[in-house]
Amino acid sequence: MAVNLKGKSFLTLMDFTPAEIRYLLDLAHELKAKKKSGIKGRILEGKNIVLLFEKTSTRTRCSFEVAAMDEGAGVTFLDSKSSQMGKKETIADTARVLGRMFDGIEYRGYEQAVVEELARESGVPVWNGLTDVDHPTQILADIMTIEEHIDKPLNKVKVVFVGDVRNNMAYAWMYGCAKMGMEFAAYGPKELCDGVDPEVLKRANAAAAETGAKITVTDDDACLKGADVIYTDIWASMGEEDQIPERVRMLTPFKVTEELVAKTENPDDIFMHCLPSFHNFDTTMAAEQMKLGYDIREVTEEVFSGKNSVVFDEAENRMHTIKAVLVATLA
Ligand code: CP
Ligand code: NVA
Repeated sequence: MAVNLKGKSFLTLMDFTPAEIRYLLDLAHELKAKKKSGIKGRILEGKNIVLLFEKTSTRTRCSFEVAAMDEGAGVTFLDSKSSQMGKKETIADTARVLGRMFDGIEYRGYEQAVVEELARESGVPVWNGLTDVDHPTQILADIMTIEEHIDKPLNKVKVVFVGDVRNNMAYAWMYGCAKMGMEFAAYGPKELCDGVDPEVLKRANAAAAETGAKITVTDDDACLKGADVIYTDIWASMGEEDQIPERVRMLTPFKVTEELVAKTENPDDIFMHCLPSFHNFDTTMAAEQMKLGYDIREVTEEVFSGKNSVVFDEAENRMHTIKAVLVATLA
């Protein structure tokens, strides 16, 4: 059956079939080739979208803006300081107002319930630009990048996510791998493995049962063997900065070093990271935390800048995959 996503929100990969995700990935590859060949697009001409950010962003905001503008759409950006949302106006009223003016709404914030409410109340497609428990547009970009660098079908690819196994990226990966029939291990300290939401695992395992995917959460480094992708993320996500001392204590043994990567025993493995990343002390946050005695680097400079690192291809692909989501749901 032909895939038609027009009018549909993009809140989590769990709402999409493997064929629909395949469609979005193929469209992203196609739109990337189109942009590289210099063809200007007009697929979204006459459309207007609004971007709501309650947390900071570089990649996601820029991806939505460039993707929309590349295809002729207008873009409005609102952050929590410059809008009434949440303070003087409910989420539901905000959604109803924005739905009268815009053809689609991007939201980045805390609770998943907020993107769900925006989608319910606005009457237009809503796209999840990251919540505390999911980051679906990132996974599309990551899978696209895997397809560009690993010469194997997705159902033969093994991804190991190292670190904070109960954060939004780990959960988003569980869903992505489950849907696309991939092998996935979340590798982190026992305390964090024990904190993985059982509902998330249950949902991912139910999808995995249909696709042949394998989802594991473990503190055993044996899971690294045979990995095609080593993926990590910062140790304290946005909103969790007060937990840095605790996270550094738990996660230092899981810092992605050349020694850890060697355990894949796969010379063709790739290193991936959603970014932003602490891989040196050249940011104010990494430097300030080091002064307090906390080394918050989740990956070493050698791995981050090494020959197997594809992190900047991944960042670029945020834009191409977000463009695919906009085109598929709006045009
Ligand atoms: N990876 C990602 O979402 O980056 P930003 O926080 O910069 O948007
Ligand atoms: N886990 C990170 C992802 C950033 C893209 C965070 O939520 O801050």
